[in-house]
Amino acid sequence: MDQPLLSVRNLTVKFGEFKAIDGLSFDLYPGKTLAVVGESGSGKSVTALSIMRLVELGTRAKVAEGEVLLRRDDGSTIDLLKQSERAMRSIRGNDISMVFQEPLTSLNPVYTTGDQVIETIRQHRKTTRRDAAKRALEMFEKVRIPRPDKVMQDYPHQLSGGMRQRVMIAMALSCDPRLLIADEPTTALDVTIQAQMLGLMKSLQQETGAAVMLITHDMGVVAEVADDMVVMRNSKFVESGSVYDIFEKPGAAYTRALLASVPRLGSMKGKTEPERFDLVDREGM
Ligand SMILES: Nc1ncnc2c1ncn2[C@@H]1O[C@H](COP(=O)(O)OP(=O)(O)OP(=O)(O)O)[C@@H](O)[C@H]1O
Ligand SMILES: [Mg+2]
Repeated sequence: MDQPLLSVRNLTVKFGEFKAIDGLSFDLYPGKTLAVVGESGSGKSVTALSIMRLVELGTRAKVAEGEVLLRRDDGSTIDLLKQSERAMRSIRGNDISMVFQEPLTSLNPVYTTGDQVIETIRQHRKTTRRDAAKRALEMFEKVRIPRPDKVMQDYPHQLSGGMRQRVMIAMALSCDPRLLIADEPTTALDVTIQAQMLGLMKSLQQETGAAVMLITHDMGVVAEVADDMVVMRNSKFVESGSVYDIFEKPGAAYTRALLASVPRLGSMKGKTEPERFDLVDREGM
């Protein structure tokens, strides 16, 4: 197997005395999709923000311990937790980029979508505005935005949620990152658009060879698109492995409970409401 692109080792992040992440370790391999799953509040977003070194900005968070090792093209590794903010600014976008849950809050309402993607490209690449505009248009085509030249002139509020999410993905992929972190990228979208987005991300990943870290609480999504998975609960690592192995034979009671929460076709026959699901009552957890 390839060497990991990213290795998180014993990561511990505190908000004051509260440990939002407690000794988390996992590996992410080039060209693969790793799903990070766990219930609300388990520390998934804090993990992503820690990797991007965004968690300490504007919060009381402190990365107390650990390493986040990124492998470079020459085979050497750097610890992202030890990089200067200046170095991180170049790593964000060029090596790792991130797509957030709600694209309306991550796009700037006063600039056209085209201008925002062009600016992102120009922040990372020495290029003329004209060439950046050409690249932006290519990216809009790549994420299958219909009439991309028109959408480049649109402001974010003029677009549907699905289109905004496509713009975010175009922006995130515009500088060919080796790792894309997507934090619940489809939860704000309706089900058909969700399926389209996931299909799109999968095919873009095959085209670009980027690794994807996909944060989700939806086991259906995990089964659909991920190769490997990490399960988190209450700030802690529960287990990790290939999706196939974990779905086949979950090692932890908590993972079994998560998997059991995926509704099966026909499971509501004769019932008007889904059964209440209480993780705490199962197997003494
Ligand atoms: N800025 C902050 N200040 C204090 N505590 C925070 C902050 N951000 C997150 N936390 C806490 O850290 C823990 C992990 O939060 P996180 O956002 O990573 O959860 P999550 O797994 O992404 O949940 P969700 O599925 O709801 O997005 C939670 O207990 C949360 O309350
Ligand atoms: Mg979250």
